[in-house]
Formats: sequence, structure tokens, C-alpha cells
Amino acid sequence: MSIILAIESSCDDTSAAVIIDGIVKSNVTATQKIHEKYGGVVPEVASRKHQSNIIPVVDEALKNANIDVNNLSAIAVTKGPGLLGSLIVGVSFAKGLALSLGIPIIEVNHMMAHVLAHYADDPKPNFPFLCLTVSGGHTQIVRVNSPFEMIVIGSTIDDAAGEAFDKTGKIMGLKYPAGPIIDKLAQTGNPVYSFTEPNIEGLNFSFSGLKTSILYFLKAQLKENPNFIDENLADICASVQDRIVSILLNKIKNAAEQTGIHEIAIAGGVSANSGLRKAIKQAGAELNWNTYIPEFQYCTDNAGMIGIAAYFKYMKNDFADLTLVPSARMIMH
Ligand code: KG4
Ligand code: ZN
Repeated sequence: MSIILAIESSCDDTSAAVIIDGIVKSNVTATQKIHEKYGGVVPEVASRKHQSNIIPVVDEALKNANIDVNNLSAIAVTKGPGLLGSLIVGVSFAKGLALSLGIPIIEVNHMMAHVLAHYADDPKPNFPFLCLTVSGGHTQIVRVNSPFEMIVIGSTIDDAAGEAFDKTGKIMGLKYPAGPIIDKLAQTGNPVYSFTEPNIEGLNFSFSGLKTSILYFLKAQLKENPNFIDENLADICASVQDRIVSILLNKIKNAAEQTGIHEIAIAGGVSANSGLRKAIKQAGAELNWNTYIPEFQYCTDNAGMIGIAAYFKYMKNDFADLTLVPSARMIMH
């Protein structure tokens, strides 16, 4: 039997999970509300918050899974990519605990873990599958050949999809992170405003032009009517979301066509978006795809997905040692 304690601290969520024989038994996340007032994540503040959150979060994860710390088989931790100061807290904690318990450490790539989060749920995608990984820091189409072999076949050339939500939300005066707020407001509005779709070659994405066109559109409207945003907020949100979703959907459609792969998954914080979830399901029904949409708890950053990714490594005896250091720009391999 394997009992893995997993730790995630790459950005602004401190999370711990217990995974027993590949099944997530507990998954506890402390979200750092403090960044709201700054309109984005402040790295130094995030790092300090991780320090105060990590012990209570780990304690709760162990308690919820009914596991004594002495019964753990291994500690899994996010090595990167992410904010260096945030990663250091998780990695240092994991190393200290592993050393004191005399058990191995498993290093995990955060982006691979977002993809492998699908193995926490049923049905599980069959290899090879395509995964659209959309978060606050990344936007990628990944060809997943196995739990250990992932090839990025498309990515953003500027902002990430989550940033597109967060930055346009900021322009409208919404709190950080604006993604979930736009999602909620969009449900009561209609996509009546049309923002141009960028023409980017191949499977790559761009979102910075969209942000600029929304900024100019709102500036022009506010000149005519200073209350334009307040009076039309739901419709503006629906229009922004509609465009972001169509950009993502068109690229994943191209990727499916080019690769001939019809196993299609979405992952990362933006995969919680109701418009994207609906659009992927609809496209799947039309184009004969098997679609995989993660449970909400596995969309945004969480240690459950780190533990699932670590379990694959545990089964291969693929362990790190105490020389492990975080890697802010870690790439997939
Ligand atoms: O994966 P994640 O928790 O952290 C990163 O690794 O970046 O993703 C966070 C991002 C934020 O940009 C947030 O606004 C976005 O995911 N997000 C959403 C929704 N929930 C979270 N965007 C759109 N709709 C949502 N429901
Ligand atoms: Zn993430």
C-alpha cells in the first residue's frame, strides 16, 4: 500500500492532499484572499502566506484522510513551474518532513499534474490524448502520450487565457481573480458585443490584442455613457467569455484534426469556466470526440493532482533526493 502526502505551493494557493494507492482521500486548499486588494498575486506576500498556511493545511489533509504522519510512504511536492519564493516554501517543507520521517520525496511538474488530474476521476482518458491546459500562467495544447511523455504542440505567445479573464476583469473594475466573476456574470448576459478573433498561425494562441480591443471599446463607450459598464456588465462579460472560449475551441478543433486524436481533455483553472465546459461538450458531440472535463476541485491549483502525478512516479520508483531545488521555469518532459 502507498500513502503519499502531496504539497502544492506554486502560486497563491497552499494545498495538501493524501493519496492512497492512487486515490485522493483528502484535498485541502487555503486560498490567499489577500491578493484581491492588489489586483494580482504579489510574490513576496504569497510566499509569506504559504509559510503560515502550510502546517495547518497539511494537518487538516492528514486528519481528513485519517492518516498518521508516521504511516506515510512518500512526500510529493511541486518542483515548478511557478513563483520561486512560493515553490521554496513547499519544497523546503517537503524535504524537512521527508528527512525527519526517513521516506522518499517525489518531485512533480505542476503543468503535467494539471493534465494528470484527469486520473483522479472516472472516466479516465486513453493515451494518446490532447489536453487543453488553461490557467492563470499557461495556455497550452499538450499531446499526452503517457503519464511521463507530454509534448506541447501549441502555446500562448503573450498572455495566458486566465490572464485574459483577469486583466479584462480589472479593466471593468472587477476583483482579482476576475475569471470566476466574469463566468458568473456571463450567465445572466448575452454576447452582444463582438471582439475580433486574432489570426495566429498554427496551434498557438494570443490574448493581448483582445485585452486592448476591449479597453478601447470600453473607453469609447464610456465617453458616450459614463455608466456603460455598470449598465451592461453582464453582456460585456458574456461577450468577453464568448470570445476567449471561441479562441480556445478553434485551436483545439485544429489540433484534433491535425493529429487525428479524438480523446480531448481540458485542465487548469480556466477549465472551471462554464462556457468552456459547455463548448467542449458540444464540440465533442458534434465531432465524435470523447471529452474529459475535470471535477471543480481538480481544475484550479490543488495538491490532489500533484499526488496523482506522483503516484505514477512512485510506481516506477522514480524518487528525488535532498538535493531537490525548485525550478521557476521548469519545462515538461
Ligand atoms: O490553475 P490555476 O488555479 O492557477 C495557475 O496555475 O495559474 O488558475 C487560475 C486562473 C485565474 O486566472 C482565474 O481567473 C482562472 O484560473 N479561473 C477562471 C475560472 N475559475 C478560475 N477563469 C474563468 N472562469 C472560471 N470559472
Ligand atoms: Zn496551475
